[in-house]
Amino acid sequence: MCGIVGYIGAKEKKEILLDGLQELEYRGYDSAGIAVIEAEHLNHFKAVGKLSNLREKTKEFHTDGFGVSIGHTRWATHGKPTELNAHPHLGQYSYVVHNGIIENYSELKKELQANGVAFLSQTDTETIVHLFERYNAVAASPFDAFKQTIERLHGAYATLLITEAAPETIFFAKNGSPMLIGLDGSDIYFASSDTPIIGKAKEVYYLEDGEFGYAKEGKIHLFDRNGVRQIVTRALASDKAMAQKEGYRFFMEKEIYEQSSVMSDTMIGRVKEDGVVFEELDEGFFDGIEQIKICACGTSYHSGLTASYLLERLAKIPCSVEIASEFRYKEPLLLPNTLFVTISQSGETADTLEALKMAKKAGLKSLSICNVDNSSIVRESDGVILTRAGIEKGVASTKAFATQAMVLWMLSLHLAKLRSALSPQRVAEEISAMLHTPKALIVSDELHGRLHRLSKRYLHGHGFFFIGRDIFFPLALEGALKLKEISYLHAEGYPAGEMKHGPIALADSELFTIALMPKTLHYEKIKSNVEELSARDSTILAISPEPFDLADDFIQTLSAAHPMLEFFEMMVVTQLLALEISVRLGNDVDMPRNLAKSVTVE
Ligand code: AGP
Repeated sequence: MCGIVGYIGAKEKKEILLDGLQELEYRGYDSAGIAVIEAEHLNHFKAVGKLSNLREKTKEFHTDGFGVSIGHTRWATHGKPTELNAHPHLGQYSYVVHNGIIENYSELKKELQANGVAFLSQTDTETIVHLFERYNAVAASPFDAFKQTIERLHGAYATLLITEAAPETIFFAKNGSPMLIGLDGSDIYFASSDTPIIGKAKEVYYLEDGEFGYAKEGKIHLFDRNGVRQIVTRALASDKAMAQKEGYRFFMEKEIYEQSSVMSDTMIGRVKEDGVVFEELDEGFFDGIEQIKICACGTSYHSGLTASYLLERLAKIPCSVEIASEFRYKEPLLLPNTLFVTISQSGETADTLEALKMAKKAGLKSLSICNVDNSSIVRESDGVILTRAGIEKGVASTKAFATQAMVLWMLSLHLAKLRSALSPQRVAEEISAMLHTPKALIVSDELHGRLHRLSKRYLHGHGFFFIGRDIFFPLALEGALKLKEISYLHAEGYPAGEMKHGPIALADSELFTIALMPKTLHYEKIKSNVEELSARDSTILAISPEPFDLADDFIQTLSAAHPMLEFFEMMVVTQLLALEISVRLGNDVDMPRNLAKSVTVE
């Protein structure tokens, strides 16, 4: 979802901007643009669609010598994905890029139009550049004008502005959307996340909400509403190799195959012989906690639902799970002694972040389960457990989900021990199962080949029902979400026992049932549910260690000793099924239509 890059210095700016935007492609976008001021001269280019279109348009354009530059990938919110709506937005002599939503933009727009300003785009962003130029006509300095502009904005934003009125300066502000500043000597970079500046900047500063300022002559001038702020940078990691495809056809495919090894990273130093430890959490972090509320979106919500079964079963602690966008507006009862747990791959999901802020305001202790260190959600939380999945580039989340589920299982066991909820023997059994997880996630050629062959029978029909019980219900939801995201076929996840209460009316041979039939949890119950569907002619793809006579197609999983091992094995099957169907349909597996990797608007 919208990505920002910026650079001040003497290096070739076009390449820095385009390469940086490429690194942000995974966030999702539908148009892109860049603007450069060099020798007091403004240039800008925009293109709809993929970055390659912008590259083509800028083929003949080269920068030379010192200058300031900004770039943007836009995921449309206000106005269609057209060139006019693409960023940077131009005033008379300034350009702006923005990520987020200016909530009071229509009020600001009316005010500006009443003063004779003509708008070119339908975006909320364009108000920023016109407001700036209006204030700049009378302000003591361009920075004063920028400050006055920022004071007028309501909503979430990360923004960069360049202007011929201060041709050696980039103005910046952040509130609610991510932005960081990278430094390498007098070269200064801006970006929405680490990846565009890895290998370029040596140090980094992650802007806090409410911070703004300007960069000029190799220096950052940082402020918030109380005045000057000190900038304390930290060293920037350099781990981009992880983000390459390494011979796989798609990032998603690579990420599915990686799950086995990243799971070991997730466990290392945490899963011990006699229990789970989280050194990253202060001693006594869970003292006084009597219930848990989990809040998340999408795939992360599904791992949260999985956790609700595990936390209650293993740790005997009440747990409720909420979709963040619902939670925010339901006037929730936030009771003391509740631990507020947010789960997020990106750490930037606007709804989850805002829910977290609400919980904090209500005085709740917070814990985030996240894959991106220093992300907004991580910085906002009292405690953090990183999932250590490595950079996930496929928009459809796979290894992030797997590692979230693992961390939540580990958390359940950690709490079970703290609360003396399980016998030492039961703890030992859980630990032993955890240590077998990497094995359960290995993708064999045989399995992948079988799913490839079988996928050709699932390219049509009037819908898919993924069904499961207990923790296999959230897995069914996740399986259906994966298929929807990358195949664009209609799929639903349903609790198997609920089918007879309505959805079974849809059953016929064109309704595909993907049945998750683990041997370790309620096998006989789910078997009856699937039999009911088969009796009504639904086409059944059964996934189970136990051969099932009524299945039209069958994927045999290994007989596992623990429900979570079956869970992870079946997760891989559903991911590969979605992948193979998507490939056969000729879809863009890594960047499915209409989706963004990091959803930074509500
Ligand atoms: C996952 O495949 C999805 N693209 C999406 O549902 C995602 O999980 C959701 O937007 C939440 O993102 P987060 O984990 O980064 O907070």
